[in-house]
Amino acid sequence: MYESNQKSAHVIVVGNEKGGCGKSTISMHLAIALLKKGQRVAIVDIDSRQKSISQYINNRDQYKKQFNLDIKMPTLITIERSSHFHTSKNIESELNNFAQAVSSLEENHDFIIIDTPASDTYLMRMSHAFCDTLVTPINESFIDIDVLGKLNPDNYEVLNTSQYSEIVREARANRRKVDNGVIDWVVLLNRRSPTQTQNAKHLQKALIQLSALVGFRTSMGLTERLVYREFFPNGLTALDDFSIIGTRYASQAQIAAKFEVEEIINKLRLPIDRKGKSRIEALEIWREAKDVKFNYNSALFS
Ligand SMILES: Nc1ncnc2c1ncn2[C@@H]1O[C@H](COP(=O)(O)OP(=O)(O)OP(=O)(O)O)[C@@H](O)[C@H]1O
Ligand SMILES: [Mg+2]
Repeated sequence: MYESNQKSAHVIVVGNEKGGCGKSTISMHLAIALLKKGQRVAIVDIDSRQKSISQYINNRDQYKKQFNLDIKMPTLITIERSSHFHTSKNIESELNNFAQAVSSLEENHDFIIIDTPASDTYLMRMSHAFCDTLVTPINESFIDIDVLGKLNPDNYEVLNTSQYSEIVREARANRRKVDNGVIDWVVLLNRRSPTQTQNAKHLQKALIQLSALVGFRTSMGLTERLVYREFFPNGLTALDDFSIIGTRYASQAQIAAKFEVEEIINKLRLPIDRKGKSRIEALEIWREAKDVKFNYNSALFS
């Protein structure tokens, strides 16, 4: 079903079986960061129970309309929960809806970001086999590492892989069979404490060992900051300009947040194309031209 060709969108899945590690927050920030780079971005929400990312985008849409703001919006498709009497019918219908959603988006978007639930569903597994980049945020905690690998409690040496790593291994094997595609898996140490603790050092060491065993790259994710929680009701992100969204959000924390999201984007090594960059340049030239005209007019009336 999935055929990779250069024209189709790059698919990023944000996934982890562990709940509350920041998947939806990261998905939204990646989407807005890529939109701001002139990329055409769609989000597919397959967390049909919580629909957090759908709500996040709806909040943004409302805020944009309420204040007539010039802020960018990703395309959103929410895969609704199917309610047939038979489970097999539900699975079939959700898988079909998902496949249709992706094929309707891939021709006219550069990136499709799939926000996944923290539970092992067919749709979650299928999305993993579908992606080009898999981003897995984990909380800075040994409970979170446990879904990737089992560690020796005495010295934190890695003993074995565990359930989520197995899901990714299976997804990679399926993907190889279908189109020989490779999934670049990046694990983000997320919701980090701003100070480096002894616990964090042990965790990072274990993660590096695991990365070699399981085949992922590691990167720092987001720091635990209140500002990420404050953005949700208005659908905003650290990437939005205060000049547009209002100075209420302007703080050192927001600037630091913006910087760390940019770092993550760099670490992901995404295929951000030239066309997108020239779209942004064209927009800036247009804005400048408009400003020149505006200044010229206001000069006339002053
Ligand atoms: N870097 C951060 N700093 C502070 N709070 C955060 C950060 N990232 C996420 N949060 C908060 O943590 C909670 C869980 O985040 P989020 O919903 O993004 O996680 P999730 O992995 O998508 O959860 P689920 O598994 O339930 O879908 C939310 O209240 C969110 O606002
Ligand atoms: Mg979520």
